[in-house]
Amino acid sequence: MKTINIALVPGDGIGPEVVAEGVKVLKAIERMDEHLSFSFTEFPWGCEHYLQEGKMMADDGIEQLKAFDAIYLGAVGYPGVPDHISLWDLLLKIRKEFDQYVNLRPVTLLDESLTPLKSRTEKDIDFLVIRENSEGEYAGAGDRLFAGKPEEVVLQTGVFSRKGTERIIRYAYEEAQRTGKTLTSVSKGNALNYSMVYWDEVFEEVGMEYPDVETYSYLVDAASLYFVNDPGRFEIVVTSNLFGDILTDLGAALTGGLGLATGANVNPEKEFPSMFEPVHGSAPDIAGKGLANPLAAIWSVSQMLDFFNEERWGAEVLEVIREIIKEKDNLTPDLGGKASTADVGGSVASMLESRK
Ligand code: NAI
Ligand code: MG
Repeated sequence: MKTINIALVPGDGIGPEVVAEGVKVLKAIERMDEHLSFSFTEFPWGCEHYLQEGKMMADDGIEQLKAFDAIYLGAVGYPGVPDHISLWDLLLKIRKEFDQYVNLRPVTLLDESLTPLKSRTEKDIDFLVIRENSEGEYAGAGDRLFAGKPEEVVLQTGVFSRKGTERIIRYAYEEAQRTGKTLTSVSKGNALNYSMVYWDEVFEEVGMEYPDVETYSYLVDAASLYFVNDPGRFEIVVTSNLFGDILTDLGAALTGGLGLATGANVNPEKEFPSMFEPVHGSAPDIAGKGLANPLAAIWSVSQMLDFFNEERWGAEVLEVIREIIKEKDNLTPDLGGKASTADVGGSVASMLESRK
């Protein structure tokens, strides 16, 4: 029997509502697969915890989480606590401490009704963005000099280490080789004459070890254009932290919006737990009303299953999401339906069980 130990950090707003539905799906799988089980331990961290205890997570929170295989997170951030505190003291802390240097964001259109692009179908939009998740433009390196004075100077430095650049690019080549897909690097060597020239060099250098992988290299501005007018040319994309952040939200817009966008924060060596989460935030405007779409959080469950080599279940969950999307009645209001968060989770679980 294989047991995957999952730390649940439901967080704020709609976080707990959508995580509950993901757990429902995992429990359905556990019932069907006698060789697979999940253990769940919930941590009440987030903004409410901050307002009561003055901190987003326990002092030894990282130590506590270390023991788990995976972290399943809802969303963090809520009015009343500044966003830079909730983000840096919980989410980014986990990503950094656990060296989750790979961010995996599928840009997969599950049904043609979901894309704003005219006459594009499922076969045109189906790729994976691999975003560098530990350094680059988000390294937090910089300074603010002479604040408030006429000579004020603000510096925000991109950090591209040999180790950090090489490992993300290598991960992407491995993934391209494993799946037999093309690999596209997105950078900006013409304007960012240090960091992105370096990125391009490393992309070529590592590529020598993967002569069978077909590669492309685009400037980020051109890549944004192609995302919209020719998304079919992408299969696997590797890019820096900032470019990946922006491009994946563009990707989410092409495939049905926040209710369907998911992202895994992965430590590939499994030295530390990886974290699976929907991309959306805590949606205070709809929290507590049963209106939240849980499909992004359920897609995270599919990514989690893939990561633990349970690809068969990962694919089944994605297939069921694909199926449920065809029936408007089964969906939450953001996708034009009338179903509640719990209805959608329940439908996914029972559709999974009926496929058996
Ligand atoms: P948001 O993603 O929470 O909401 C943006 C809009 O999308 C809202 O109108 C919301 O109702 C809608 N929406 C989001 N998820 C939805 C879902 N599953 N189903 C239906 N509608 C959904 O972003 P916003 O409003 O900018 O941020 C709210 C809070 O969440 C802030 O405190 C922010 O810092 C935090 N946040 C946390 C993230 C995380 O934990 N990874 C990511 C983004 C924001
Ligand atoms: Mg983002």
